Amino acid sequence: MGVSHITEPNAPPDPGAGTRSEYRAAVIGTGFMGRVHARAIRVAGGRVVGVAGSSPEKARAALGPLGAERAYDDPEALIARDDVDVVHVCTPNHLHAPLALAAIAAGKHVVCEKPLSTDAATAERMAAAAAEAGRTATVPFVYRFHPMVREAREKVRSGAVGRLNLAHGSYLQDWLLRPGDDNWRVDADLGGPLRAFGDIGSHWCDLLEFVTGDRITRLSAQTSTVNDSRGADARPVATEDVVTLQFATRGGMVGASVISQVSAGRKNRLLLEVSGTEMTLSFDQEQPELLWQGGREASNLLMRDPDTLSPAAGRFARVPAGHAQGYQDCFDAFVSDTRDAIDGAAPDGLPDFTDGLRAARIAEAVLESAQGSTWVEVPE
Ligand SMILES: NC(=O)c1ccc[n+]([C@@H]2O[C@H](COP(=O)([O-])OP(=O)(O)OC[C@H]3O[C@@H](n4cnc5c(N)ncnc54)[C@H](O)[C@@H]3O)[C@@H](O)[C@H]2O)c1
Repeated sequence: MGVSHITEPNAPPDPGAGTRSEYRAAVIGTGFMGRVHARAIRVAGGRVVGVAGSSPEKARAALGPLGAERAYDDPEALIARDDVDVVHVCTPNHLHAPLALAAIAAGKHVVCEKPLSTDAATAERMAAAAAEAGRTATVPFVYRFHPMVREAREKVRSGAVGRLNLAHGSYLQDWLLRPGDDNWRVDADLGGPLRAFGDIGSHWCDLLEFVTGDRITRLSAQTSTVNDSRGADARPVATEDVVTLQFATRGGMVGASVISQVSAGRKNRLLLEVSGTEMTLSFDQEQPELLWQGGREASNLLMRDPDTLSPAAGRFARVPAGHAQGYQDCFDAFVSDTRDAIDGAAPDGLPDFTDGLRAARIAEAVLESAQGSTWVEVPE
């Protein structure tokens, strides 16, 4: 591996403020997530000491947008640097495992994008490697960080929802609706054998299990590839556009979910609804300041208001009620909690590599079920 790098420093912020350990981050991947992670790192008081991408030119072009201090030709040379504490892996899915494992082997903490791996056995190795090394290793299931998601979780925890019996919802997008719509995610070699499910279904299942504290034990899935060729060259595509899923949980819930990247007009509509013997809760990611609370006699729409939120949810309120906060705030909170974990804290609800492994196991069960047209048990 070459070790050349291009030095174009942005001024590093004042170090030494406060007593926390440093958070000197390497960001690998310069796309949507690279930018979102870099912003969250800076908000958490960290520095982006280096960035690497798919080419030296892309890394250099990302210096300004990411606020990075140096651009590197080679991700592995960046990972190896002594002045890197944490590696953020923001690349296409097939690179998550090699880069995260290289970071752990180099003694770094890791933030690795979902899906942690494109197969469960590799995700298991990654979780084991992180545990063995004693490093903080987190996965951005960031919808957990919406205050109204935490509020829903607290209502379930407190018993206010009653005994849970039903969960359902969907995660719908439309950016891959047309045959001309294309992305690396479409190709199984880069994105993994399950595309829509790995990309967004993993978020839905994580949110379900996070809010309810319950676990999917068995499932039945079917997949559909609406566009079986894509791109200017109309190359054949094997990965699915749609997944429909039925499941049962350890706690006695039954439920269903629809995952789609070809639903016209739906941009990023993650909807989760859970019903118990006392009430129903419904959260829509496109209206994240609200939580619908349904009751037999009366229903109401709860607003994110720091004055009325439970402490567990109020911890994530960044601005007063009525001043909308959203997706980037979730990332900021996630990286801030990752930083606290590195400093020895145990932030409630911080998704780590075991959660990434859990998502990989569910994905594998979905694939097996869809391929075999059968119900499949999901391993704990
Ligand atoms: N947690 C979330 O909410 C969330 C949201 C979107 C995407 N993601 C995940 O983040 C990851 C990146 O997705 P994205 O939307 O940013 O994709 P993107 O296409 O916008 O960016 C991917 C980047 O990967 C980099 N890259 C490609 N090949 C590389 C290589 N060989 N070496 C180094 N870098 C390389 C490139 O810089 C590219 O810009 C994916 O795994 C995706 O599943 C997570």
